Amino acid sequence: MNTTELIAKIDRLRRKKNAVIMAHYYQTGDIQDIADMVGDSLALAQYAAKTDADIIVLCGVHFMGETAKILSPTKKVLVPDMDAGCSLADSCPADEFERFVKAHPDYTVVSYVNTTAAVKAHTDIVVTSTNAKKIIDTLPQDAKIIFAPDRNLGNYINSVTGRNMLLWDGACHVHEQFSVESLVALKKQYPNAKVLAHPECKNVVLMLADFIGSTQALLNHTTQSDSREFLVATESGIIHQMQRLNPDKVFIPVPPVDSTCGCNDCKYMRLNTLEKLYACLLNEQPEILVDEELRKKAVKPIERMLELSK
Ligand code: 13P
Ligand code: SF4
Repeated sequence: MNTTELIAKIDRLRRKKNAVIMAHYYQTGDIQDIADMVGDSLALAQYAAKTDADIIVLCGVHFMGETAKILSPTKKVLVPDMDAGCSLADSCPADEFERFVKAHPDYTVVSYVNTTAAVKAHTDIVVTSTNAKKIIDTLPQDAKIIFAPDRNLGNYINSVTGRNMLLWDGACHVHEQFSVESLVALKKQYPNAKVLAHPECKNVVLMLADFIGSTQALLNHTTQSDSREFLVATESGIIHQMQRLNPDKVFIPVPPVDSTCGCNDCKYMRLNTLEKLYACLLNEQPEILVDEELRKKAVKPIERMLELSK
């Protein structure tokens, strides 16, 4: 089947089954183009909470599908590839996290959305990179806070809020890997280019950035900025939307260390393909299921986030 036929079949199936296709900005361009909505982690959660579709197909990684299921338990939530996990979520095993939280009983527990439902169940408030500062600013100045699992985002939020949150020592394999040497060389090669970085990047990369933000914030900045050239230090899938919205501007991906392709791709996000999206709509598999007792615990900190994000 060629791509045009595949797209037509996906389109027919989604209408017939009243399914909505949601995609994160780190998906490949073909998946972003066919999706009913494309967004950052916060927008995906907000959309999943209010959609009236019978089926949600979440083109992203497992925790995104799981969050959608937690918020919309009566819907069927499908993912194109069940193996699309997340190294950041994996860096925070739920049993270790539970012990850590129990050892700090007087702390408010803030977790990034890039966590499993079992970690969210031990969390007071979930945040994304779009709303982390805003939500942490609502906590009393003297509150003791645990932040998990991303140490880079945690350090960044500490620096912009003046907090001293206790950080879980986790990281994302994509954002940890940007080559500072290559970034410095690219800055010399493109002296007018602005450096855009996601706060999951190491501090040394953030120090070289002109603008730091979530995928949605980075995208907004590319349209609002007068600059014509950008060096992009986040997963390269986002460049599809940046280029689509700004056809006259130039976007150069910052490569990871030891790179041959020059791009920094999330191997989990890349497991999703148009073929798997079609098969998943057709067979209604793989399906995300969440134990109801766990869901009831995990939904509370997510709903708190959605409330505080209004
Ligand atoms: P945002 O889209 O919320 O910025 O998150 C990036 C990310 O790490 C998704 O895996
Ligand atoms: Fe997880 Fe990093 Fe991939 Fe995002 S880019 S899904 S944080 S591994």
